[in-house]
Amino acid sequence: MTIAATVDRWEPNPHVIAKAGRIIRAGGLVAFPTETVYGLGADALNPEAVKRIYAAKGRPSDNPLILHAEDAKQAAELVEFNQAASKLAAKFWPGPLTFVLPSKNIVPSETRGGLDTAAVRVPNNPIALALIHKAKTPIAAPSANLSGKPSPTDAEAVLRDMNGRIDMIIDGGSVKFGIESTVIDLTDPDSPLMLRPGGLPREEIENTLGVKLGFPDDVKRKRSPGTHYRHYAPSLPVKIWHKGDLLPENSAYMGINRPDNLGDTPSILFASTEDYAHGLFAGFRKFENDNHEVDCIFVEWPEDSSGLSEGLRDRISRAAGII
Ligand code: TXA
Ligand code: MG
Repeated sequence: MTIAATVDRWEPNPHVIAKAGRIIRAGGLVAFPTETVYGLGADALNPEAVKRIYAAKGRPSDNPLILHAEDAKQAAELVEFNQAASKLAAKFWPGPLTFVLPSKNIVPSETRGGLDTAAVRVPNNPIALALIHKAKTPIAAPSANLSGKPSPTDAEAVLRDMNGRIDMIIDGGSVKFGIESTVIDLTDPDSPLMLRPGGLPREEIENTLGVKLGFPDDVKRKRSPGTHYRHYAPSLPVKIWHKGDLLPENSAYMGINRPDNLGDTPSILFASTEDYAHGLFAGFRKFENDNHEVDCIFVEWPEDSSGLSEGLRDRISRAAGII
């Protein structure tokens, strides 16, 4: 049985948070909203609890988890900070930015997938922060979907994948961003690397550090397993649509621009790149649940270089199976 409790995002009911905190402390699993996507949380310092996350998601145990801390001070108890990390933390935490840094021994090997580094971030959502505070421990949390499925952006999507597999879900409404955090490798502070584009745009990080983010080589990429498995895939095939293309029959469509022959094709039209990023995963889930006569989802390839578009292109490429 999964307990579901709805709370106000800005003033989460303390009784609900206290109950969720007790479940985390007892080694259980609680799904909760962050500003990016819903997370599936467990006590990051309890190896048995962390194993339950992998089991509930069907996730390969060599794919390490992000540790969610309530502030930079708690994060610095988990990993070895350097100047680049401190600078970025001061500017962007709480927020959608995750650092990979050398792990301290306190972090169990299960949480970091056997690596000598660990990933940390401070999420910008009052429910998430209250939960970490109440649980009195950092919370390991991957996205709260079955492995390989689109990340959940509301509680309904979490329950569709996780009902009966987890102890509790805190429903705090729809998330703010809709795609996951940006993950950067800061183990060598002079050569920071982009492991996964996401909620915080690359330029903001590069401008703050005064250096460009590099691309991980094959060794590093293998060590960030979530960046090489096929991800974010709905059960329907996903194909790329470019402005000017005609839409084939029996397809669904998502994008900012309207195909000329859209007609009454099931579609979601977005007003901006931010709106598109927010609705992409939710749209995949909607089409796979609603429209049985649809046999393919076409998604527009965002051409602009602003804000969330790099993260959006990454998620679209993975969903379409082209990286
Ligand atoms: O926005 C987010 O980041 C969400 C919310 C819940 O915080 N979490 C999330 O977690 O997306 P997950 O597990 O779905 O993705 C974590 C990514 C994976 O690509 C994983 O391989 C990478 O971070 N990662 C974690 N620890 C790492 C490490 N020590 N070295 C390299 N990559 C790591
Ligand atoms: Mg994920």
